[in-house]
Amino acid sequence: MSEKLQRAREFELQEIGRIPEGQKPDFHFCSPTGWINDPNGFSSFREEYHLFFQYHPYSVQWGPMHWGHAKTKDFISWELLPCALAPDEEFDAMGCFSGSALEWEGRQYLMYTGVKEIPGPDGKPVVRQTQCMADGDGVNYEKWKCNPVIEADCLPAGSFPEDFRDPKIWKEEDGFYAVVGSRSRDTSGQIAMFRSKDMREWELVSVLDRSENRFGKMWECPDFFPLDGRQVLIASPQTMEAEGLEFHNGNGTIYLVGSYDPETHEFRRIVPEARAIDYGLDFYAPQTLLTPDGRRVMIGWMKSWDNDLTPEGFSWCGFMTIPRELHLKGDKLYQLPVRELESYYGKVVETGPVAVEGGSFVYGRDPLPVSGEDKGMEIPGIRGRQFDMTVRVKAGDYRRFEIDLAADDSHKTMLYYEPGSSALTFDRTWSGGQTRDSVSSRSCYVDSRGGGIELRIVMDRYGVEVFVNGGEQAMSCLTYADEKADRIRFGSQGRAEFEAVWRELRR
Ligand code: FRU
Repeated sequence: MSEKLQRAREFELQEIGRIPEGQKPDFHFCSPTGWINDPNGFSSFREEYHLFFQYHPYSVQWGPMHWGHAKTKDFISWELLPCALAPDEEFDAMGCFSGSALEWEGRQYLMYTGVKEIPGPDGKPVVRQTQCMADGDGVNYEKWKCNPVIEADCLPAGSFPEDFRDPKIWKEEDGFYAVVGSRSRDTSGQIAMFRSKDMREWELVSVLDRSENRFGKMWECPDFFPLDGRQVLIASPQTMEAEGLEFHNGNGTIYLVGSYDPETHEFRRIVPEARAIDYGLDFYAPQTLLTPDGRRVMIGWMKSWDNDLTPEGFSWCGFMTIPRELHLKGDKLYQLPVRELESYYGKVVETGPVAVEGGSFVYGRDPLPVSGEDKGMEIPGIRGRQFDMTVRVKAGDYRRFEIDLAADDSHKTMLYYEPGSSALTFDRTWSGGQTRDSVSSRSCYVDSRGGGIELRIVMDRYGVEVFVNGGEQAMSCLTYADEKADRIRFGSQGRAEFEAVWRELRR
């Protein structure tokens, strides 16, 4: 084992014990210590699910990328394993960037991007990204002597050798395949597909799709899989421009739905437009696996590159979403938390039909006159920071229905629906615990049902995942509200009728 890897393994062990009990979410995979970003190598191995992740154990900022490692049997309880890769070779000296994993003949294979610098034409260093392999027994990995196994010179002419990364590998009957993100000569994203008999020698078989400067620039972290009779391509584009409520500026995530011809390796979009995968403030670089019982399960990094909300004094930064089961209904992607979450339910509160009118909207976009101390309705038993709650609002002529989470006397994290525009908004402006002026609200349009809406909210201390109308839309957001702020309030402009089922999440 290299000194760098040994050091990372010792460091993480020593630091984990220093994190105060109860500071991290309990049902989401969290950084062991230091910084994490993308999920990597999310895959099955010896009847367990493995998750690797972009990792800089030494600080809560991004730094030279290692691969951290954990495994689980149920997607919710994770066992931490020793750091798997460190940037300790000439071909990955600047970082072991994102990639994927595959079980094959009893071994676990990792395919990742090695980043290095070489002298450029004018002597100044330039970055080169190449695809590299390692294999191991589920804990320890050997990087291959023949690395790198794919270099950028096999991409179509004019592609950028400094932006060629994040291979996702899988096996078909006729060989191994990998999709890799890169930038074409038009400077925007493309997804190249490679094939190999032995994972050593790879040939380019097609370029599956391209941004053509329509959906952001570099396309990072691709995944490509069949789902419910169609083929889905996902990517995380950098440098996106907001378009209505569909995307937002900066790093986004998109999915494309189409058909795939395994003979010609052509992907044809059925839906011409890319759509956002998640409409929250904190979601990026998702990756999927196929479970033995046939479920396509996706996990994403629950943070944004542009907002750093890590509270002072925390020595860990970043966590992943609860893994989600994916489906296509028509050509739309549906997502819901894995069913395994249900084994962590504790107490249940069912409200039956409730009517609400009023509540203080002083902070909202469309403030109502504030009626004294009325901050909204609380319901006995519905309170806390770790729960899975489904709220069904009946169709009606209310103007706005609001749920305040993580609330206390002066703070709240708002989720509100306005049937007039059919927009659902998450807003953490007044959540507290956020000392920087960063983006704090985001909205998405939901299918208008005359004011009827179903909201499933999974909250785990600082993470809020919202699933709309059975998973038709998802919003993943952080709120670093003080943990003591644990009230939940309901309010409405105009009279709204709803029912809620609140389930405690418990270990
Ligand atoms: C996406 C990404 C990847 C890269 C990794 C580096 O968030 O930029 O493209 O491999 O992070 O940590």
